[in-house]
Amino acid sequence: MATARNVAATPVTIVIFGGSGDLAHRKLVPALFELHREGYLAAGSAVVGFSRSVASDEAWRLAMKSAVEEFGRCKPSQNTGLWDEFASRLFIHRGDVAAPKSFTELGERMREIETQRGLPGNRLYYLAIPPSSIEPVIRNMGETALVAPSESSVWSRVIVEKPFGHDLGSARSLNELLSSVFRERQIFRIDHYLGKETTQNILVFRLGNGLFEPLWNRRYIDHVQITVAEAIGVEGRGKFFEETGILRDIVQNHALQLLCLVAMEPPVAFEPNAVRDEKVKVLRSIRPQTTEEILRDTVRGQYGPGAVGGVAVPGYRQEPNVDEASLRDTYAAWKLQIENWRWAGVPFYIRAGKRLPKRVTEIAITFKTPPIAFFRKFGVMRQEPNSLILRIQPDEGIALRFGAKQPGAAMKFDPVKMDFRYSEYFGAHAPDAYERLLLDAINGDSTLFMRRDEIEVAWEHVTAVLDTWRENPPLDMPNYEAGTWGPEAAVALMARDGRNWRRP
Ligand SMILES: NC(=O)c1ccc[n+]([C@@H]2O[C@H](COP(=O)([O-])OP(=O)(O)OC[C@H]3O[C@@H](n4cnc5c(N)ncnc54)[C@H](OP(=O)(O)O)[C@@H]3O)[C@@H](O)[C@H]2O)c1
Repeated sequence: MATARNVAATPVTIVIFGGSGDLAHRKLVPALFELHREGYLAAGSAVVGFSRSVASDEAWRLAMKSAVEEFGRCKPSQNTGLWDEFASRLFIHRGDVAAPKSFTELGERMREIETQRGLPGNRLYYLAIPPSSIEPVIRNMGETALVAPSESSVWSRVIVEKPFGHDLGSARSLNELLSSVFRERQIFRIDHYLGKETTQNILVFRLGNGLFEPLWNRRYIDHVQITVAEAIGVEGRGKFFEETGILRDIVQNHALQLLCLVAMEPPVAFEPNAVRDEKVKVLRSIRPQTTEEILRDTVRGQYGPGAVGGVAVPGYRQEPNVDEASLRDTYAAWKLQIENWRWAGVPFYIRAGKRLPKRVTEIAITFKTPPIAFFRKFGVMRQEPNSLILRIQPDEGIALRFGAKQPGAAMKFDPVKMDFRYSEYFGAHAPDAYERLLLDAINGDSTLFMRRDEIEVAWEHVTAVLDTWRENPPLDMPNYEAGTWGPEAAVALMARDGRNWRRP
């Protein structure tokens, strides 16, 4: 989107708070190794992990080597020279986020590394730590002068992971805390969905082609469905999920971000604030719902025991660290109306769930049917609507469904499909979203990161639903079997409007 991948990054010291954690292992260090391999990390650039438990640089390098071997695209065992070069960029700093002394020492360690490696002092701080650790980290960074003032000749930036708060109030407090130490242009709130090639392609598809944008409005589009389905359950993260639920974990960020990209107006320029201005307008145009409307237009679900891919799986309440009477949502469906000139009267249906039959994220745009039944005399009273499917993951691509005549004397129609698959056309495996997002943050391009107002408006809508749900506890949970497409009530939500969920 904004930054080309061939832009060379500026020299930087990257600090990963949470250097020993899962995110650093599975995503961050593999992505940085990939950037190193492709020549995107400037000479001298260093990566400093921060954690309590890692004893030495050597221990961290070994742990990261195994992590990249397991999760990276390029394996250290097959590229030993390259790995050794990269490993020499890695350092660990042992410290506790609650201890100011750890930050003074971190500052000293960074200055040492920067002097040795000829680095100018640009710093990118990545908060890969539990939400409860964010407050002490920001406070201590501010108090120990680890953040360069925004007018200084070197820069400091911070990347903040999800969850960004757990409701509107906590998201606002977190924004206040961040802005007590950083300026907005130094804050990079990450939603890794925005770094996915297919997500970026939504705008390329809409704005880089002449064919579809003229149709992209209420005159031609009947409705839009956004699906974020997972086949997995809570994967040992029962405690986290009990506090979170699918609405917070997926809908508040990923699904609403996809909605913004589908529904936004063309920005005046391809630059961070122009793009984000348009996204936030979409969020502001979502019609606020009353309690009755929320109860009517949302569905919450929780999976019971069942089978996924032929394998028996337990229900949510049987997962470790889950209350046996839990009312937590593992499925959510939501009908939204965007009240602006482009979209008035076109419903957007979002659904997200765990333990659904397959992992798939897609946006399905259903067009209106022709105004007359032209082939009535041949018995074709209604034609299937055309639909355009933007597949975000896993089988990335775009499909267009339309009606075609069956060969033969009779006038019979069949829905057929034109299908574009990224993997078939472009071959090479797409870069991981974290590679793109880390490079953009190093280069100071925040187009693919969320601005403060975006986060807060999204939370306003989601908090209204959460409050209504809390005040009106569900009586029917668990209400869908693992391995099915969700509760009956979600089917009814669509059926009421004369529509169906797609079966991806
Ligand atoms: N994992 C993912 O795929 C993923 C995806 C999206 C977002 N996130 C978010 O990213 C954040 C980190 O997730 P994670 O899965 O990597 O968590 P994790 O595996 O539990 O790792 C937590 C990290 O924080 C460090 N830490 C915790 N308390 C500390 C303290 N008092 N002082 C210093 N370091 C401390 C831990 O290091 P020590 O124990 O060694 O001190 C560890 O490195 C969370 O906010 C999560 O929601 C994660």
